[in-house]
Amino acid sequence: MFAQLEDIERAASAALQAAEDEAALEAWRVAYLGRNSPLMKVFDQMGQLPKEERPQIGRRANEVKRALEQAMAAKAEFLHQAALARSLEAERLDVTLPGRSLGRGRLHPITQTLRHIYRIFAEMGFQVYRSRDVETDEYNFLLLNFPPHHPARDMQDSFYIQGPSLQDNPVLLRTHTSPGQIRAMREYSAEDPLNPPPVRIILPGMCYRYEQVTARSEIQFTQVEGLAVGAHITFSDLKGTLSDFARRMFGEHARARFRASHFPFTEPSAEMDIECFVCGGAGCPVCKRTGWLEILGCGMVHPVVLQNGGYDPERYTGFAFGMGPERIAMLRHRIEDIRYFYGNDMRFLEQF
Ligand code: PHE
Repeated sequence: MFAQLEDIERAASAALQAAEDEAALEAWRVAYLGRNSPLMKVFDQMGQLPKEERPQIGRRANEVKRALEQAMAAKAEFLHQAALARSLEAERLDVTLPGRSLGRGRLHPITQTLRHIYRIFAEMGFQVYRSRDVETDEYNFLLLNFPPHHPARDMQDSFYIQGPSLQDNPVLLRTHTSPGQIRAMREYSAEDPLNPPPVRIILPGMCYRYEQVTARSEIQFTQVEGLAVGAHITFSDLKGTLSDFARRMFGEHARARFRASHFPFTEPSAEMDIECFVCGGAGCPVCKRTGWLEILGCGMVHPVVLQNGGYDPERYTGFAFGMGPERIAMLRHRIEDIRYFYGNDMRFLEQF
């Protein structure tokens, strides 16, 4: 019996050595520790042994059984670790490979400029007022004090939606954001107790002009109109507001100047220049050697326009201005051609 147990242990150990995966280990367990294994037969035959041999054989058989169980547990752990190591090796990641960058969207440079402008005027108490892109001749010109056949209309050649000669009041794409002044004043009417003056608004939007496309002018472009109407508004308020805007937009040291100009809907009218920030006023190609850059048109709202908006010019005054975000973006980023903005060239747009 002892010799038999020795043989069982030796054979089992050798077979265990040879088991190379979990399936082989399970087959080994059935063969050497299972119900019909030689070891279990030894336990079964215990009853037939002489009484005095039973304790030693029994102890020895239990030792062999425990030893085989421990060896099996150790082998199972070994196989598990080996499998893990194999799969780690197989699924190994090369962490030195450069990552793929995510293609993130970005805001169009004009959208960014518009938002900058909104922020500055919001801090000064101006609200954004949205007006329509498609206008009538009446709002785009007539109510803004451009009489029919007035030569100032030639400054802004229009895209008509219906032929101008077919109707008294043709429909057109707005040539500037100024018609929104009339729409806003009529909405914030002095007569309406719920929406009383003062009006403090900016009117942003796309404008359209039937013009030759060049590096300096596009057939479509944005404008931001400004309008303030109330009692006791003076030209000093206009100058103060716009000088403050220039400092906030172009920097604390940006100097501004006002030049007399002409628009049918403002009187007096002016254009505002800021000192050229490329050369600091000394004169360079960007400012065409003048030292100044023109950035907007402005003036005191013409009495006829106030009246057309529903405000009594004897009681109310106001100022208005209009600026071109493309021009401002071109100056700030030194972009030489306005056509880049709407050319959809990713190489240009991705710079912002
Ligand atoms: N509407 C004018 C233009 O497009 C700009 C302007 C607006 C001037 C408001 C004065 C006041 O040229």
